[in-house]
Amino acid sequence: DNASRGLWSSRWVFFLAATGSAVGLGNIWKFPYVTGQNGGGAFVLVYLACILLIGIPLLMTEVMIGRRGRANPDGAVARLAREAGASSRWRVVGWLGGLTGFLILSFYLVVAGWALAYVPATFSGGFAGVSGEASGELFGALLADPLRLVVCATLVLAATMLIVGFGVRGGLERSLRFLMPGLFVLMLVLVVYAAIEGEFAQALQFLFVPDFSALTAQSVLIALGHAFFTLSLGCGAMMVYGSYLPEGTSIAKTSILVALADTAVALLAGLAIFPLVFGNGLEPGAGPGLIFVTLPIAFGQMPLGQVVGGLFFIMLVIAALTSAISLSEPSIAWLTERFRISRTKAVLGSGLVLWLLSLGSVFSFNHWADYQLFGKTFFDTLDYLTTNWLMPLGGLGTVLFTGWVLQKQVVAEAIGIRSAGVFRAWWNLLRYGTPVAIVLVFLNLLGLI
Ligand code: PHE
Ligand code: NA
Repeated sequence: DNASRGLWSSRWVFFLAATGSAVGLGNIWKFPYVTGQNGGGAFVLVYLACILLIGIPLLMTEVMIGRRGRANPDGAVARLAREAGASSRWRVVGWLGGLTGFLILSFYLVVAGWALAYVPATFSGGFAGVSGEASGELFGALLADPLRLVVCATLVLAATMLIVGFGVRGGLERSLRFLMPGLFVLMLVLVVYAAIEGEFAQALQFLFVPDFSALTAQSVLIALGHAFFTLSLGCGAMMVYGSYLPEGTSIAKTSILVALADTAVALLAGLAIFPLVFGNGLEPGAGPGLIFVTLPIAFGQMPLGQVVGGLFFIMLVIAALTSAISLSEPSIAWLTERFRISRTKAVLGSGLVLWLLSLGSVFSFNHWADYQLFGKTFFDTLDYLTTNWLMPLGGLGTVLFTGWVLQKQVVAEAIGIRSAGVFRAWWNLLRYGTPVAIVLVFLNLLGLI
């Protein structure tokens, strides 16, 4: 049974796959826009603290649970609970994660579709010499066109399901080798351009000089949620990837490298985008359209901008695909392992449900924009619930399960940290620091502290 599941061919490939899952729209689309909406520096600081104190320890934990459980998140947690003689109810931590990932995927596809729509628009010179205002209008026109949005989201969904259907490992291993370095280089080019042409000093100030008066309980929750989102935590993705990890790899080292790469790409995205925001008199808090309005201005002006921009959006689509694949794998693995249905059927069935759900997000920007719950559209509600509540809750369940239910001995062996001091630090963080921090953020938001 275990042997038929297959493994990543090496530690390096696992690193690429985990980085492929982590680096995506979260870094390039979401990080700049939530940072802009939440006042900049102080938000960035809280976000970095969340990565360090909650994200990295939890990333190690999830990979460890997957590798030790050797199954989909639901099955892996159930197996470890059984071994520890604990209630099998803990498996809720696993399947709730899978469900969260599934819901996220339904709107992630739609945003990836925006990036896809921008590939031909950029290559064809559609943004040549465009101003901030005109760029905003072009983005608005895309959002107002449900047919284009559906076609693009469907193409992304089809590509994701095709790769997942053929088995994650083959397709992913090949595409990841050139993607990550390529994306990194292009981000650097954009930062250099922004440093020359934009308001770089103002951007640095905005991103790195904290103004704590701009920080609300709500923005702390959003920073925590974004730390989960960007590292693919609390939704089974890293667990299921961990379940394909060969024995004998250092989980700690790999996790830290993944988190570093992810953070580097997010900060580069911020450094590329905010100089352009300020240089073109745009609003940092403009929301989800931020990169789709700012970057085309740069591509419309820089030498070879059509080509650079087209390549950039292609890379963004591929980065989103490698994340989308990891969002769908927990539920696909669950369907095939728990219910013994074929991978093809699992892919077709979940693809259909995802497609229907994604329509809700597509129409949030046009026909259904007026149907709101607490002032949020369907798209915003789904994003807020999954990212800011379900992911941290899933993470909380995971650390409580690991730190308080599993035996220390078993965990120590599975995580494979050689230094006793480092293990003790991680173990204490997991048992006390991480759960307390998550609970404090929730209580703070609810106004209870
Ligand atoms: N981490 C991905 C990103 O930053 C999104 C993601 C979330 C992927 C959850 C998998 C699981 O874009
Ligand atoms: Na990310």
